[in-house]
Amino acid sequence: MRNDDRPRNYRKDTLLTHLGRNPEAQHGAINPPVYHASTILSRNMAEWENRPDPKVVFGSVRYGLSGTPTTFALEELLAKIEGGHRSAILCSGLAAVTAPLQACLSAGDHLLMVDSAYGPARNFCNGVLTRCGVETTYYDPLIGEGIAKLMRPNTKVVYCESPGSLTFEVQDVPAIAAVAHRHGATVMMDNTWASPYLFRSFEHGVDVSIHAATKYIVGHSDVMLGAVITNEQSWLPVRSTIGELGHCAGPDDIFFALRGMRTLSVRLERHQKSALEVARWLQTRPEVSRVLYPALEDDPGHALWKRDFLGASGLFGVVLKQAPKTAVAAFIDALDLFGIGASWGGYESLIQPAYPERARTATQWQAEGPLVRIHIGLEDTQDLIADLAQGLDKLRAAAA
Ligand SMILES: Cc1ncc(COP(=O)(O)O)c(C=O)c1O
Repeated sequence: MRNDDRPRNYRKDTLLTHLGRNPEAQHGAINPPVYHASTILSRNMAEWENRPDPKVVFGSVRYGLSGTPTTFALEELLAKIEGGHRSAILCSGLAAVTAPLQACLSAGDHLLMVDSAYGPARNFCNGVLTRCGVETTYYDPLIGEGIAKLMRPNTKVVYCESPGSLTFEVQDVPAIAAVAHRHGATVMMDNTWASPYLFRSFEHGVDVSIHAATKYIVGHSDVMLGAVITNEQSWLPVRSTIGELGHCAGPDDIFFALRGMRTLSVRLERHQKSALEVARWLQTRPEVSRVLYPALEDDPGHALWKRDFLGASGLFGVVLKQAPKTAVAAFIDALDLFGIGASWGGYESLIQPAYPERARTATQWQAEGPLVRIHIGLEDTQDLIADLAQGLDKLRAAAA
């Protein structure tokens, strides 16, 4: 894209390719250079004295902590793809969860937190926020506009994650946001599963969108990174708190995220196609009770997912039929292509056992048998299915 101001109205895939880089300003190099910088020198005293105020001006090169052109390139790209006002990059997804909560909550405030939230987000509420005098109430992910009965005069934030961590409930985010806004609360959402590409959160009432960029944005399981994208109203409070907390991210990691973004849409397309194929196959297996994946037509969240999302990623849950722990271990240990590991969103397939019943407080997780979480990578689905088939055979043999 030429460096001029002609009017443009390109679609998302074109923007993924062209935003966040400026070859004309970089000797023609396609990708932006990686700026390693802490100190930024001023040319003279006048420039030093007139540096922009770091509490209100963001996106200018001042000190490494507030970002360099490498940072600003990723921030611009993420905000544009999700349709937000601006974005900030942090060192991890968890930092992107905690910093906006710290920005919008003070002693005496009340937070409504979804019961299916990512575990460490709960830990933060139960630990740091409690110590700071913020009260958290967990709510049923399927509550929808029923959230109205939980709102209090001091409810400042309603936090969503959709689909829920481990259990994949799809939330009625627009209904929840409408109620929250009527009460003057800020709506935050962990949008990591869909990425900025598959859920345009600001069109559904979200004020602050949270991403573990560690997952699909980076996409290669080699970087920890977080991103917060906000609407115009939430930008200053959230961004200034991120600065006050001292959050930033390393330039090499940001470069990897910029590189990941260029292929985000093609990777997601393949993750979805393969995940659907494997999920449908799993539904036919006698060892499987249910597959928790909103892209499946018979998933309870399918209608909402279809209404609000632009696609699905490659992460889902599988409820097995009743089986002893040793049989589940025999299944997972027999797998050749599925690594046993936390995180997801890379090019490789993963599996891990999941225990949502250990965390829930507002709702009870009741399932017919053990739960495993599967990430479908970019491998050939026939190989993945064959691997799962031999693993499930071992499960059945161990359970007999
Ligand atoms: C839904 C969700 N949000 C946030 C995070 C935290 O991201 P990170 O591991 O980059 O801290 C994770 C990590 O697994 C996650 O699954």
